[in-house]
Amino acid sequence: MWKVLLISLFFISSVATAPSEDGRIRTRRDPQYDVVVSSQRQADCSLALTFIRSDSTNMPKLTVRFDIDQTPAANTHEGEIVLQPGLESETLDWNVPIGWNPPFVVSGVSMLDDPNNVGDFIQVGQIVQHTIPDDGPCVMASAKRDPHMATFDGFRYNFQGTCWYTLVKHCTENPEFEISARFEPLKSNGPEIKSRATAINVTIGDERISLDKDTILVNDQPYWVAQLSDRPRNAHIDVNSDSIVIDIARLKLEVEWDGRKHIFNAAILNPEYHGKVCGLLGNADENPHNDLQKRDGSTTLDIDEFGASWRTPGIRCDY
Ligand SMILES: *[C@@H]1O[C@H](CO)[C@@H](O)[C@H](O)[C@H]1NC(C)=O
Repeated sequence: MWKVLLISLFFISSVATAPSEDGRIRTRRDPQYDVVVSSQRQADCSLALTFIRSDSTNMPKLTVRFDIDQTPAANTHEGEIVLQPGLESETLDWNVPIGWNPPFVVSGVSMLDDPNNVGDFIQVGQIVQHTIPDDGPCVMASAKRDPHMATFDGFRYNFQGTCWYTLVKHCTENPEFEISARFEPLKSNGPEIKSRATAINVTIGDERISLDKDTILVNDQPYWVAQLSDRPRNAHIDVNSDSIVIDIARLKLEVEWDGRKHIFNAAILNPEYHGKVCGLLGNADENPHNDLQKRDGSTTLDIDEFGASWRTPGIRCDY
């Protein structure tokens, strides 16, 4: 994950001026409520921006108005976020608009409600300027519910396989990684088969991380046991309330799995893999027209034929 530097800060006082009722300018001393920003790239290539109070005094409701500027070009995104009383930080998801390229600079001001003028704000601090670095290109692929597949290059199709299939793997003799998924049929009344992803395996070197609806295995051991022995060695697993994120920093690969909603996202952040992967999610070479490449390397226009070629050999599924 791209944990980004936090800048240390100071708690200082500002001098605020406001016109008094008799028209004279009154000077007041107010505490200053500065805000620090950190950013993190997610498996869907969006950025999680966290706004953190730099002080911990009495925690009033703080409204933060921010700008995200692309440098040196002139793209600007304006936004507002409210830190509720007592809350130290708030995170929002920002989808980087197409054509925008980092670095970005986040700046802005923090404001309190004006007690004398309902609906107005008084500026009480600012965002300690934060730069979102250029982490290189991010390409994303996903498999959702039915499953609706979107390759790294943006080709979309519906896939109704059943059993285990390769979603994406390093396309060489000795692959550095492989991600496969199990698709299971949904009960249906009609003749049409609908399936959805119910488990994924992420293999990195000699380790296999297996996720389904509610278990995490590392080389077939439940994850809590595995943790005691410092595993997995090749990845970092983050368990969130609704999804599990596997961060493979060494390969610059990020995988997100929501087993209850059957949603899978992956981001390849390492340009060396672009065009060098294969599977149901395509080759990540930025061309969506050559994504239907079968396991034997030949291409097809037939989704069923393409899909069938990526079925994992040697595993039986009894559905
Ligand atoms: C995925 O992992 C599970 C649990 O370790 C295993 O039973 C299954 O066979 C694996 N699937 C593939 C395709 O390797």
